[in-house]
Amino acid sequence: MTKADVGMIGLAVMGANLARNLERNGFTCAVFNRSGEVTDRFMQEQAGKRFIAASTLQEFIESIERPRRIFIMIKAGPAVDDIIETLLPLLSPEDILIDGGNANFHDTMRRVERCNAAGIEFLGVGISGGEEGALNGASIMPGGSREAWELVRPLFEKIAAYAEGPCTTYIGPDGAGHFVKTVHNGIEYADMQLIAEAYDLLRTLGNRQPTELASIFKRWNAGVLQSFLIEITADIFAQGDEETGGYLVDYILDKAGQKGTGKWTVQTALDLGVAIPTISAAVDARAMSAAKEERVQASEQLQSGASHQAIDPEKLDSLTHDALYCAKIISYAQGMALLARASAEWNWSLRLGDVAAIWKGGCIIRARFLEEIRRAYADNPVLRNLLLAPAIRHELSSRLPALREVVGLAARVGVPIPAFCSALSYYDQYRAASLPLNLTQAQRDYFGAHTYERIDRPGWFHTEWGTRR
Ligand code: 6PG
Repeated sequence: MTKADVGMIGLAVMGANLARNLERNGFTCAVFNRSGEVTDRFMQEQAGKRFIAASTLQEFIESIERPRRIFIMIKAGPAVDDIIETLLPLLSPEDILIDGGNANFHDTMRRVERCNAAGIEFLGVGISGGEEGALNGASIMPGGSREAWELVRPLFEKIAAYAEGPCTTYIGPDGAGHFVKTVHNGIEYADMQLIAEAYDLLRTLGNRQPTELASIFKRWNAGVLQSFLIEITADIFAQGDEETGGYLVDYILDKAGQKGTGKWTVQTALDLGVAIPTISAAVDARAMSAAKEERVQASEQLQSGASHQAIDPEKLDSLTHDALYCAKIISYAQGMALLARASAEWNWSLRLGDVAAIWKGGCIIRARFLEEIRRAYADNPVLRNLLLAPAIRHELSSRLPALREVVGLAARVGVPIPAFCSALSYYDQYRAASLPLNLTQAQRDYFGAHTYERIDRPGWFHTEWGTRR
């Protein structure tokens, strides 16, 4: 009996679609799901294709060619540890477990160690692109040993999206792949929040209706902002609501969910001391949105202190467009800076240009602008901050006045745009040769004798504060 080239554990939508993608690309795929009914249904739907169904893990393992390449596509968390422990005694040396879920990279580091100690390879693989990407081409971010990568590479290069090359590459050891996926999601949160704020400006200040918003976003998608998220936003505005005859977006409750990757991005940034205020603002915005009932009550009690300001809607469209592009660049700069810092911390040797290249297709943040990022790091792999790349500086310079105007305008009229504001503040802080935190140091020394450095000579100093000059 022919053996399978690869195995898939978990046939929920991501696992099933990845299995179908592998099979379509010529690989025979063994499949296993905890509930046998799901496997049976899958096999009925895929009748005649190169799948081998197994009803026990033992049978599943025996049906796969060695060294075995086994995807684990189950809910991230303790269930992954459970399945690893069940599999380890059944596997042979050099078999490779591939965790394609949204795992926390700390867990992945631990699992790599656990598996390697048992002679088994473990790849923590970030997979972006949702159901559609899993089926037709995803952006795939594998972390683990290079040897294991070489063995899965022919599979991954076939099932990945293609953007001038397959959207997959070796990311780095242990948790690197899952971390890069986490930061991808952090950037995704920021992108989505900036788009939501742009929408708020256009509907609240510009009084734009969903049909107009659909055509504005469609137009934007033909230019520098071209991206998957802008594209789907145009579609969303055009979607009617069958029940009311209105537009569906107007009937969706403004409480955003989150599964944790945005929060992990911020937590890691805090741990490493890297400022990613726009990504943090996006995570905070979801928390604020979730407090709907409280906001409704507060809206009846709190004054805005805002002033009315009329603005030509077309001028507002164009300002918002340019501000959005600037803020997007600035938020990506924060995400890339976090990747660079994490790479140094955990010795991952991340190649940020390659990361940008594999985000060009398949993933949720795919965008024309990623080619600029790829080029910036290709020109200078040790670039300290994306904002310093000459081409990026050029992209920003003509549009910064729009970002300032939009932030000022929103503040005056009382439209909350935390992600835009944080992007501008980050930019202004980053370009400030001098910040007022000399005063912070003085205060710390005043109340806690924490000492401070001076600008005119080296060393650490303490002052008995309170003596007037
Ligand atoms: C992707 C997505 C995907 C998922 C996230 C978003 O890259 O395909 O990021 O992983 O949509 O889980 O999660 P939340 O918005 O629910 O946190």
